[in-house]
Amino acid sequence: MPVGYNRRRGPARGPAGCPASPRCLLSNDSADPVHILGLCGSLRGPDSFTRRLLVLVMAELDALGACTDFLDLSEIALPMCKSTADTDDHPGKRDLVARAERAQGFVLATPEYHNSYSGVLKNALDLLSSEQLGDKMFGLIGIAGGDMGAVNALGHLRIVVRGVNGHVIPQQISLPSVYRQFDGDRLADERTAGRVRDFAAALALHTRRLAATLDDLA
Ligand SMILES: Cc1cc2nc3c(=O)[nH]c(=O)nc-3n(C[C@H](O)[C@H](O)[C@H](O)COP(=O)(O)O)c2cc1C
Repeated sequence: MPVGYNRRRGPARGPAGCPASPRCLLSNDSADPVHILGLCGSLRGPDSFTRRLLVLVMAELDALGACTDFLDLSEIALPMCKSTADTDDHPGKRDLVARAERAQGFVLATPEYHNSYSGVLKNALDLLSSEQLGDKMFGLIGIAGGDMGAVNALGHLRIVVRGVNGHVIPQQISLPSVYRQFDGDRLADERTAGRVRDFAAALALHTRRLAATLDDLA
């Protein structure tokens, strides 16, 4: 058995370990739902397009029976990362670490900022480590004001996830010209909404497969 698989897996799984999703708490149709944490890397709160896209993805994951936890980084006071351990007592960091430990998969959501992802998301990831992120599945989504979309941000995030021993699914969502993409909180284009559904299904499937493989190896 490879060393470390048990240690890296999230602790409690299934309804008892998933306080965030009402559907999960009520669900009897899946004995072992996957637990997925969405991190919103914009600080603009309800006005944020990143947040709106993440809400849609998490709703699809919910509908697929996943336990979902939504963490808007504008709603949690996190310290700036200084070194590996010296902010461990900070309540915001403790909350972030606990929620990341519970998760088996992640959605990282970011705006494109100067051809990359946002600093607030980088700080949150720097406060975590492979202890919470390693051997877990990641899906990446991004939005951009410009026509080129968020492909640079998502490409850079792939490299970061590799740095914490995580696994990124090949599917990703990059919305260019984001001011034209939404009709209120809904996506204006049904094909884009279909891509969101496909992305969520792929992330749920890959997360379930990885969790099952780790269980088998344990
Ligand atoms: C500091 C900063 C840098 C940005 N850089 C880019 C960029 O490189 N490419 C782009 O298309 N849009 C860029 N934008 C526009 C944002 O992607 C756009 O405003 C987006 O809506 C912000 O995300 P939010 O709505 O989730 O807060 C930038 C915005 C800011 C504030």
